[in-house]
Amino acid sequence: MNGTALALYTWSLSDRKLGRAARARASAAAGYAITLASAYLGGVLSYRYRLDTDHSDRSNEPRRFVPVADESELVDGQPVGVDVDGVPLVLVATDGAVRAVGGRCPHMGGPLGEGWLHRGELVCPWHGSRFHLDTGEPAQGPSTAPLPCYETRTRDGRVEVRRRARWRTPTAITSVEEASR
Ligand code: FES
Repeated sequence: MNGTALALYTWSLSDRKLGRAARARASAAAGYAITLASAYLGGVLSYRYRLDTDHSDRSNEPRRFVPVADESELVDGQPVGVDVDGVPLVLVATDGAVRAVGGRCPHMGGPLGEGWLHRGELVCPWHGSRFHLDTGEPAQGPSTAPLPCYETRTRDGRVEVRRRARWRTPTAITSVEEASR
């Protein structure tokens, strides 16, 4: 629609140069109408249907470690969906380590707890996006946004998670982390 509007404005400009004022005004008005319709459609798709927006959870919770599953529930190499205060997460046990990432696909909100592993990457069951478990970054689209990542630890046979601080560096400990120790 934007391309059509641009063509109409270009046509209007050339008509103005040739002295065809009435036709130039008509094509400019049509271009303006199409621009408005295009903007409206874009707004509906983005704000109502969240097309091309990030569907994953971006809150900072939980900031402290909370138990989410029994260690015995995890099967090596098999994603397990869990829930923290209504926010879905996925736990993946591989090679003796447990990693946790957001359970809602950033692309369209697909349930990653129902996904599977492919060469160590988590695959979305809806459209096949693949995510690195260590960084949450998409290895293959259609998703372009990363998954939120969580730190994990095991206490008394329970797997605990907390949100990985986004600003954390290997050498710096943030006040949020310090407070939650
Ligand atoms: S919802 Fe996950 S790839 Fe589309």
